[in-house]
Amino acid sequence: MSESKKLAKASLESLYRIFTVPEAPDSTLGQIDQSISQNLAGFLQEHIVAAERDLADIERDFADPHIPEQPTFVSDQIQFVLDKLVAQSVHISAPSFVGHMTSALPYFMLPLSRIMMALNQNLVKVETSKAFTPMERQVIGMVHHLIYQQPDTFYQRWMHDRGHALGSFCSGGTIANLTALWAARNNVLPPQGDFAGLGQDGLLAGMQHYGYRGLAILVSERGHYSLGKAADILGIGRRSLIGIETDANNKIRTDLLAKKCDELAKQNIKVMAIVGIVGTSETGNVDPLDEMADIAAERNIHFHVDSAWGGPTLFSDKYRSLLKGIERADSVTIDAHKQLYVPMGAGICVFRDPETLSSVEHHAEYIIRKGSKDLGSHTVEGSRPGMAILVHSGLQIIGRQGYELLIDQGIEKARSFADMIQAAEDFELVTEPELNILTYRYLPADIQQALIAAADATRIEANQRLNLLTKSIQKTQRGLGRSFVSRTRLNLVRYQRDPIVVFRAVLANPLTTTEILRDMLAEQREIANRPAMLAQLADVRALLGIS
Ligand SMILES: Cc1ncc(COP(=O)(O)O)c(C=O)c1O
Repeated sequence: MSESKKLAKASLESLYRIFTVPEAPDSTLGQIDQSISQNLAGFLQEHIVAAERDLADIERDFADPHIPEQPTFVSDQIQFVLDKLVAQSVHISAPSFVGHMTSALPYFMLPLSRIMMALNQNLVKVETSKAFTPMERQVIGMVHHLIYQQPDTFYQRWMHDRGHALGSFCSGGTIANLTALWAARNNVLPPQGDFAGLGQDGLLAGMQHYGYRGLAILVSERGHYSLGKAADILGIGRRSLIGIETDANNKIRTDLLAKKCDELAKQNIKVMAIVGIVGTSETGNVDPLDEMADIAAERNIHFHVDSAWGGPTLFSDKYRSLLKGIERADSVTIDAHKQLYVPMGAGICVFRDPETLSSVEHHAEYIIRKGSKDLGSHTVEGSRPGMAILVHSGLQIIGRQGYELLIDQGIEKARSFADMIQAAEDFELVTEPELNILTYRYLPADIQQALIAAADATRIEANQRLNLLTKSIQKTQRGLGRSFVSRTRLNLVRYQRDPIVVFRAVLANPLTTTEILRDMLAEQREIANRPAMLAQLADVRALLGIS
């Protein structure tokens, strides 16, 4: 903001005004308010600048560490927000933005979000949330039912029970996974004799009391990094989160999982949880949940399923069977801000047994009292917004059949995109979509063939050079701002575990058409045919001995 601008004055009178008097319709804020309500997409298109500005340059707009002494006029701040923030934000709801798990939102979320903000309810306790607490308990119950399909009598008994919670509503998948593993950890070393439990006496006392040498969590090598954070926070350490190899389809190898469990038992290391994944973050695959449930049940180990991404596949009559065995999990994570199309941050963790979460119960006299229905007694977080209103509304307005359509068309679009890539002479489909995520790279057919025949060292070197090319194409495409796929690096069985950099497409936006995907491939092809990229390709061809 310019130095010469008129400054507002701090006075009680103006403070009363900003708390009580709505902005006039013709003020800057009033006008923005109106145009957002009438046409959010148009407003964003008008204000988000397509060309990429360097982040270091943007940082100069946010370089001042001083809190202003004098107030700023609302209109000035709004102008700053428009020019410096909105203009340089990411158009994640564009149908050609298919790179990440953050997608478009249904329009009704906007007014509902405003109601939520305006009411500013705090779900930590009934005294500050009233009807929002039973509503959140119902949402947790609905997600529980989606997974566990218990009879109505079960929900009548437990959903609103003051001493229990069927799950925990939180800010996202990370906290949902942490909550599940927190409960699992406390249950694996329960109170006994003079040991008052992990919550009271801590991990060291628990290990000494039970005589274990360590605790471990087992998950496939494709497990989300939030599990590493959980292992760290829960005091068992990231190295105790053990990654089990995956097979050619990116699914955990259950033979190795069972073997690892038994090896650890022999070393007197207690496995506190086995984690199955529904929708691996990079490749969208689903672990063999039924087999994992068997392994966990045989050894009396907590079975957690991280279905942050893929859980809503349960809405689909056609694809639900991919998740067979999820109903045997002790706990399940679902991120509402992913495929329930709710704004961030809304995540949920549910527990099959209403007693499981009791192992982390926490009370305080002034707030979450014993015997109250306060949800704060079973959550990691303290003060929490009423985001459940958005999940509740999504479930009501879209309904099971609506979500089914969204899920089915995402999976089928991913399949069509995969076919399109396979039919193209110059692209390689790296991982097949099982749900709605796939990976691929630019790889002309002659190089593809030569790679198969190449000696190990040559192949590894060629893949390294191709990785640089894939990165350059992805960065150039992002910079152009017309379309976007993300990129990741995979060590796949099919490629002798060479690190391969790939484009990653996530097809969850219902407005993405196959036409858009075709154009996106054409754009990537066009970028790959620019002189600098052609030189990189010539280099790879020379290495592989093809002219
Ligand atoms: C499988 C999986 N689990 C957990 C998470 C973490 O979710 P959040 O980013 O909402 O904390 C993600 C996020 O992408 C995920 O893909």
